[in-house]
Amino acid sequence: MKLAIFAATGGIGRQALEQALAAGHEVTAVARNSRNVRPDVRVVQSDLAAPDPAVLESAVRGVDAVLSGLGARSASEAGVAWQGTRAIVQAMKAANVRRIVVVSAAPIGTVPSPARPKPPKHDPGDGFFMRHLLSPLIRVALPKHYADLARMEDVLRESGLDWTIVRPPRLTDTPVTGRYRTAYGQNLPGGAFISRADVAHLMLRVLRDSETLQRIIGIAH
Ligand SMILES: NC(=O)c1ccc[n+]([C@@H]2O[C@H](COP(=O)([O-])OP(=O)(O)OC[C@H]3O[C@@H](n4cnc5c(N)ncnc54)[C@H](OP(=O)(O)O)[C@@H]3O)[C@@H](O)[C@H]2O)c1
Repeated sequence: MKLAIFAATGGIGRQALEQALAAGHEVTAVARNSRNVRPDVRVVQSDLAAPDPAVLESAVRGVDAVLSGLGARSASEAGVAWQGTRAIVQAMKAANVRRIVVVSAAPIGTVPSPARPKPPKHDPGDGFFMRHLLSPLIRVALPKHYADLARMEDVLRESGLDWTIVRPPRLTDTPVTGRYRTAYGQNLPGGAFISRADVAHLMLRVLRDSETLQRIIGIAH
């Protein structure tokens, strides 16, 4: 396939890039700093906090699918996930590209957003510890990041595109295994961790599965 990978310099984005190349896909990497991408890959440079629509359109024109691991690296950068994803969606529409897979986060099902001001109080996959201790704690620790990702999910739901949102719990840097649990529309019971490599593995895997269109997928080891 021809793929455009946004945030190809991030933890998950880098994994997606390496795995996509290893699988024989033709990849355009989109990065805020092109020097941070390996030299044998076509790179388009774009700061998604202030993107040039024509540059984004040139990055996605002719691809079969877009993958994105975009996320704020600090609280002060929060907002980049939803605004950058909105710009990616606009570029995809201009270039007639329909398929996009992005990374959100496990707690987002319970985070309010403009389009979902009253989300469920609990994710059906979360057990007692996650519902009452960990999830509230994380949401208090990272309110701007999570508001950003919740709004990014709104952008995709309203896009009319063929989207898939992957919601991982705590990310680790262990190697790819391809062995993990997934569930549609909810988190995984007892699933506190997943590697960035296996999130990237799932992002590539869903491209072959039309059941995953317009679906949110929980993942965990
Ligand atoms: N940490 C966790 O345990 C955890 C758990 C669940 C979900 N998540 C979420 O999962 C997502 C991916 O995680 P990760 O570990 O792969 O994240 P990461 O390593 O922090 O990567 C973030 C990526 O976004 C890019 N980016 C940020 N601002 C940008 C801008 N203005 N223009 C262009 N690119 C920009 C970064 O580019 P640069 O390389 O140029 O900075 C980087 O490639 C994030 O949204 C994160 O919040 C994290």
